[in-house]
Amino acid sequence: SVCVSVCPPVSLYVSPNHQQFFKGDRYVSLSCVDDGQTADGWRVKRTRGVSTEGCSTAADFRRFNNSFCVLDLSVSSGGSFWCENSSGQKSDEVFIAVSEKQLILEIPALPVNTGSNVTLLCKPRNGSAKKSYFFRGKVKLGHGPEGKWILHNVQQSDEGLYSCSTLIHQSPQSRLKVKEPPPPPHTTIMYTPSPSPSHSPSHSPSPSPSPSGNTEPSASSSLRPRSPSVSVLRLFCHLLVFCPYFISTILLLLICCSRK
Ligand SMILES: *[C@@H]1O[C@H](CO)[C@@H](O)[C@H](O)[C@H]1NC(C)=O
Ligand SMILES: *[C@@H]1O[C@H](CO)[C@@H](O)[C@H](O)[C@H]1NC(C)=O
Ligand SMILES: *[C@@H]1O[C@H](CO)[C@@H](O)[C@H](O)[C@H]1NC(C)=O
Ligand SMILES: *[C@@H]1O[C@H](CO)[C@@H](O)[C@H](O)[C@H]1NC(C)=O
Repeated sequence: SVCVSVCPPVSLYVSPNHQQFFKGDRYVSLSCVDDGQTADGWRVKRTRGVSTEGCSTAADFRRFNNSFCVLDLSVSSGGSFWCENSSGQKSDEVFIAVSEKQLILEIPALPVNTGSNVTLLCKPRNGSAKKSYFFRGKVKLGHGPEGKWILHNVQQSDEGLYSCSTLIHQSPQSRLKVKEPPPPPHTTIMYTPSPSPSHSPSHSPSPSPSPSGNTEPSASSSLRPRSPSVSVLRLFCHLLVFCPYFISTILLLLICCSRK
């Protein structure tokens, strides 16, 4: 990985999300994203051997627009890609292999979440997938009759170099990266004053901390029992629902009695 200690939140996004392609395939697009948004001020970079280049500096690696770079798979030989900003901060890198051979392994380029199921596909250049063997490092995991292998409930220990083979061909190896899923959206429990006339009319959606640092009044106000007016309203509703039944029952009784 390019980043040494703490990786910045910006990451390289790869579409389609694969690490291996056939030479002669069309394009793979690369962009820098920060929390799902295009990361301003970050550029996609590549290294092949010793030289580092930005997109638009090589025939196979072009700037599609300000946010996206494309790798032209008809001529490219791949490389290692990452995002970098002007102070030299780097994202994680993704290695893209462009094979001139007959078999590739389709494996996600982006880190997968722990707990997810990851499908590996052993894909021949010509024709449909056939019985394939799957490996992590040199260890044979098993075979999939239709060229497919599913890693169920992926854990950190599933990280490693994967490859596949058929009886006659072998794919390159690519690294599966596993990450913890992002924490659920921040759920800060904030007691906001209920919009009742007894409170100050100018209450903002994000209450600024009071100078005294005392946030208790708003918290206690919403924990107080409902006001009497609410109970009266509920009683009224109950009456509205049950009164018709009550009245009609009395009326029926009266009618019965008067007939007798
Ligand atoms: C760049 O192109 C992509 C793909 O067509 C598009 O989704 C994106 O909005 C474009 N971005 C800009 C800044 O034009
Ligand atoms: C580059 O990214 C780092 C880490 O996110 C940030 O601290 C730094 O300010 C960025 N530099 C520029 C020029 O945006
Ligand atoms: C993973 O696959 C198993 C078995 O097919 C299934 O029960 C489970 O729901 C799947 N998990 C996810 C996160 O899709
Ligand atoms: C794959 O298909 C192409 C074009 O259809 C053909 O030229 C090539 O020889 C085929 N390769 C193999 C290994 O069958």
